[in-house]
Amino acid sequence: MPLRSAQWYAGEDRNAYIHRAWMRRGRPADAFTGRPQIAIANTASDLTPCNAHLTAVAAAVRNGVYEAGGIPLELPVLSLGETQVRPTAMLWRNLAAMATEEMLRANPIDGVVLLGGCDKTIPALLMAAASVDLPSVVLPGGPMLTGTFQGSALGCGTDVWRLSEEVRAGTLSAEQFARSESAMIRSDGHCNTMGTASTMALVAEALGTIVPGVAGIPAPDSRLLEAAHRTGRLAVDLVAADRRPSTFLTKDSFHNAIVTLAAIGGSTNAVVHLLAIAGRLGVDLTIDDFDRIGARVPVLVDLQPAGRFLMEDLHRAGGLLAVLREVRDLLEPTARTVTGRRLVDYLDDVTVWDPEVIRPRSAPLVPEGGIAVLRGNLAPAGALIKPAAASPELLRHRGRAVVFDSIEDFHARIDDPALDVDADSVLVLRGCGPQGYPGMPEVSNMPLPRKLLARGVRDMVRVCDGRMSGTAYGTVVLHVAPEAAAGGPLSVVRTGDMIVLDAAARRIDVELSDEELATRTPAEATIAAYANPKRGWERLYVDHVRQADTGADLDFLVGSSGSAVSRESH
Ligand code: FES
Ligand code: MG
Repeated sequence: MPLRSAQWYAGEDRNAYIHRAWMRRGRPADAFTGRPQIAIANTASDLTPCNAHLTAVAAAVRNGVYEAGGIPLELPVLSLGETQVRPTAMLWRNLAAMATEEMLRANPIDGVVLLGGCDKTIPALLMAAASVDLPSVVLPGGPMLTGTFQGSALGCGTDVWRLSEEVRAGTLSAEQFARSESAMIRSDGHCNTMGTASTMALVAEALGTIVPGVAGIPAPDSRLLEAAHRTGRLAVDLVAADRRPSTFLTKDSFHNAIVTLAAIGGSTNAVVHLLAIAGRLGVDLTIDDFDRIGARVPVLVDLQPAGRFLMEDLHRAGGLLAVLREVRDLLEPTARTVTGRRLVDYLDDVTVWDPEVIRPRSAPLVPEGGIAVLRGNLAPAGALIKPAAASPELLRHRGRAVVFDSIEDFHARIDDPALDVDADSVLVLRGCGPQGYPGMPEVSNMPLPRKLLARGVRDMVRVCDGRMSGTAYGTVVLHVAPEAAAGGPLSVVRTGDMIVLDAAARRIDVELSDEELATRTPAEATIAAYANPKRGWERLYVDHVRQADTGADLDFLVGSSGSAVSRESH
């Protein structure tokens, strides 16, 4: 079969001449005759500090591509630094996916290596790869090494939440807190907790899109460069085998990703990302699959925020494959990976080197740890809770709602000594869904009222239509769908209404009759807090974003268009 890039480069006509001549620049004449053109879609950016080292990683990929006879071509793609961009990186996940998809399709390439790391980057790259359906392999940039502060390990994100609560509670000085800042990020790489970046790298490997054994190699570890070299070689082979995402990503692959998500105690963000990726592939994945497949899977990986250790420890303990060996009976054995081999074929020769970090099935960190999907009159289309990150005694709770219309409203009032709130109250935050904010920010793990922190309260039930950081913890009901701004019942809850959470029964309800709910309308202040952008990407996003329960993709981006380009450029 002729290469896709031959549509640009083959032949003696004027257009082929233009395509070749402008790309020549020292490349040999045979660069364009039958040699796979491999794009290295690179999210390296100084403003995505977790991915800044990917330029060095790309150099190793290049070597592998050349060695296998391909031509490596670096393609910088829209990058998203989770900690930097406002109002939330999630607002541009779909833009990054769309821009990457379009540039992969528009250019003369045959295959692609996808370099990601920080939270949204791997999801965006996978959505793009699924929609353009060219032979693709992901190479994750890897987590950073473990930092220490005052004699103990620091977990990115998780310890920021913990230390800042300690400052609010008065048990850590502002000076100590400031001093921890330079210790938080010790090296290249993404967050070292089981946050969204670590989760998505491991889940992408379970899905089959990364060479098995590669996800979780720390960013500064030289084995990452070796993996990069190997991945570059594989990309050339993928073109010869015509192994496109649609040829191996099936419902079974997503099954394995969901089992993995549970066993690693992964981020709730993975739910929206996996739903969005499945939507691009046309795989029939629903929010309920996460509960059905994952809810009873034990958490075996003892990493922050649910547990104690960090990604460097997981790698030392045997990595993802050692985890998967423990849950092998729960995996779909037929699911194949990007290498052509089945995922389970990689589990025979792996060992758990530290059973404290990767627990045996007989002694899990949490016996049933997957993400639970709740429904009820407060979330007719669904909401999530991560029991592994919650307080067990709050998983069944009835309390009085204290409602906030926006995160600004929340910050303005939460520490007011006069706020009528106690430890049994349920904090409700709305206007934080995909449309309402816009972009569904990570605000659902609202800080607790200072006066309750001072009394020793460390967790409360919280309900929100936004997301929460994968590094966060607490009894948080999130991704409530439909969101308030889309007319969900959350929009009409009032302070004083009674809210009932029953995680075991998978219910989240407000004690209001259907009639009462139907007659209520949102207050003016509630509506005023919803985003109403006038132009640009935000307008397009608000008009087209779908709800969290289907992955928060844009309606016109769901599905695939393949890699065909119909018309010439000159
Ligand atoms: Fe980049 Fe956490 S901020 S992975
Ligand atoms: Mg995040």
